[in-house]
Amino acid sequence: MLIDGLQQAQRLATLLSGGIRGAGLYPPGHPASLQPFRELESVVLSLQREGGEIRIAVVDGVLSIGEHLFFAPPPPLQELMNRLDEKRVSGLVLKPGVMANDLAVLARLMADPACTAELGAGLKQAGVQLIEVMEEDNLSRTYNEAVGAVREIFDEIGNGRIPNSRRMLTVVSSLASAAIKEPLALLGLSLIKDYDNYTFQHSVNVGVLSMALAASMGRSVHEVEEAGLAGFLHDIGKTRVAKTILNKPGKLSSDEYLEMRRHPEYGAEIVREMEGVPDEVAEAVLGHHIRFDRRGYPESAKHLPFGVTSGIVAVADFYDATTTLRAYQRPMNPTQAVEELRNACGKSLDGKIVDRFLELTGRFPTGSLVRLDSNEIAVVFTPSAHPCGAAVVKVIMDGSGRALAEPELRSIIASGDRIVDLVDPLVKGIDVAGYF
Ligand SMILES: [Fe+2]
Ligand SMILES: [Fe+2]
Repeated sequence: MLIDGLQQAQRLATLLSGGIRGAGLYPPGHPASLQPFRELESVVLSLQREGGEIRIAVVDGVLSIGEHLFFAPPPPLQELMNRLDEKRVSGLVLKPGVMANDLAVLARLMADPACTAELGAGLKQAGVQLIEVMEEDNLSRTYNEAVGAVREIFDEIGNGRIPNSRRMLTVVSSLASAAIKEPLALLGLSLIKDYDNYTFQHSVNVGVLSMALAASMGRSVHEVEEAGLAGFLHDIGKTRVAKTILNKPGKLSSDEYLEMRRHPEYGAEIVREMEGVPDEVAEAVLGHHIRFDRRGYPESAKHLPFGVTSGIVAVADFYDATTTLRAYQRPMNPTQAVEELRNACGKSLDGKIVDRFLELTGRFPTGSLVRLDSNEIAVVFTPSAHPCGAAVVKVIMDGSGRALAEPELRSIIASGDRIVDLVDPLVKGIDVAGYF
């Protein structure tokens, strides 16, 4: 029977995942322990016929095996992704000639909770040379840490505790040095939208966007950290607003509306209780719905002297809120969102900061649907002010307008492609958000 590459790739991941799960069942060297890896070896071999070594990697939360991508991985593949994540490995390379024995060693090391981040060293020590470990780069590791720290804070408040801020402070300080080195790289991290918990994901995005923006404005490390904390925590007060109000799809009643509008005050109260978080952060949280023209809410905060940090968070908040799908709103496409940002200058937002933001995100912000000079259609993943129009795109249609079964992530700076035009998702009938 002829099995196609995609099925083979899925088989490979399923076998590896099962091999890891079963690795503890038999002592090393037991004849039964090698059996699943012999099958794995033959699947690897047949996939390698497609093209040399095989890369198993996780990019932007998507598992790829060779050229095959899994956007909605079944449980065994998800399990493999979790294992890689636990080991802080962004990928594995299986080189030609890799044998069942090598794969068994890999599975045993991946099953061992004690060898975190030492997978590469462990393989070397065991004499396995045909499996290479791609270490997760520092930036995405720090980003994942930040997501974890924000989640922990949300959870602690949900459980009625005062959140411990130490982890958050550490993570924000490493993100700040990364942001100062390369603000755009940081911007590319705020892509994955999780619709199940809007407030949480929105908070992560606003924190990252605020830090990138603050860094690109030449603010000091301390100020970049402050912008990050204020961004991550700006909507933290929503954890005190009932979920039925938060997620209500229709119009809010006037009482519900008033309760929703108390989230800046709730948030400032929470932040003031967090040890080591500067006062300016609580202030920015309190004032994040006070507009540049001093309208907005809460009334009590209207006359406070808000600084640049508040203005930065306001721009990041505005942008992320307009481009994300929510219970009560379809996301705007990025071109519309940019238009809205421009319209808000001098009213709700500070025009100088908006200008800086637009310089940073380039002509085609994240989520733009674009045509490449090859006539392919793609979604912008990582924007860039580079002349080719963006850094990373996901190609979703080939040059003759056929949808690709497996969209392809491509660094267009490296490939030499160029964005020639924006495409209207409505005309093409494409749901851009579905590609994140
Ligand atoms: Fe808010
Ligand atoms: Fe917000």
